Amino acid sequence: MDMANFIVEGAARRVISPLEGEMAAQRPEGVVAREAQALYNTRKVAAAEASPSVAFGDIFPSRREIARAFVILAEGAGDMQAREALLDRAMGPMRRRKSSEKLRRGRRPSEGLAFVARDPSDEIVGTVRLWDVTLGENGPAALLLGPLAVEPGLKSGGIGSALMRHAIAEAARLGHGAILLVGDAPYYGRFGFSADRTGSLAMPGPYERHRLLALELKDGLLDGAKGTIRAAGRKVKALDFVA
Ligand SMILES: CC(C)(COP(=O)(O)OP(=O)(O)OC[C@H]1O[C@@H](n2cnc3c(N)ncnc32)[C@H](O)[C@@H]1OP(=O)(O)O)[C@@H](O)C(=O)NCCC(=O)NCCS
Repeated sequence: MDMANFIVEGAARRVISPLEGEMAAQRPEGVVAREAQALYNTRKVAAAEASPSVAFGDIFPSRREIARAFVILAEGAGDMQAREALLDRAMGPMRRRKSSEKLRRGRRPSEGLAFVARDPSDEIVGTVRLWDVTLGENGPAALLLGPLAVEPGLKSGGIGSALMRHAIAEAARLGHGAILLVGDAPYYGRFGFSADRTGSLAMPGPYERHRLLALELKDGLLDGAKGTIRAAGRKVKALDFVA
């Protein structure tokens, strides 16, 4: 059974939806964590018992197997430090100089649209957020996605895709009309993003035009959208830093 197919939310870790499939309702709570922990334990015991003269390569769970043992949760107030550290590891310090950052700085993510992936030890191994923006002056409301990042040692294990699919599904469920992002079309194309409808839109700073991508969640939302994308999110209050 594919553990990546199960998503849970919040501290209660209630299963809320299957990712690409089925059977979430049949799965008892806690099973994801137990199975995932077993994978970690296998790796730990094998590492402790291995002697340098013996080849143990085949008995270790692969990165891909470990990466599959994750859950997606709503980001919590206590996740800030671990998330920032993950972003530094995954993207480096230059991440703060991106044009997208201008649309995020001093704002809070769109209500209910910040997620983390956690491994069996409860460590944050992936993150994605969506932000409220408007498309040009007096233009339609939309979301800006980013950053999306996965623990470097766990890349290509499906965590990024799971975060993307969950973020898109939740944005649609909450009634949003479109998601924009600046990123690589060869990656984001698989989720339906393209630059086809962003030619008349611009980021508020330097960016590569062909990397401004969009996904319509409501047909026609991007019709006639033009101008510079503007921040529209709730402003951060001083108290938000106290938690
Ligand atoms: C991009 C990122 C989030 C993808 O997460 P992930 O968990 O590794 O992704 P998935 O496992 O869902 O998908 C992996 C597949 O996407 C491909 N892929 C990853 N990044 C890609 C890119 N920039 N362009 C094209 N393909 C890409 C991988 O080659 C892999 O292909 P495969 O399935 O054929 O082996 C992750 O690599 C990461 O954190 N990168 C550093 C931060 C970053 O660049 N974020 C995006 C900012 S725009």
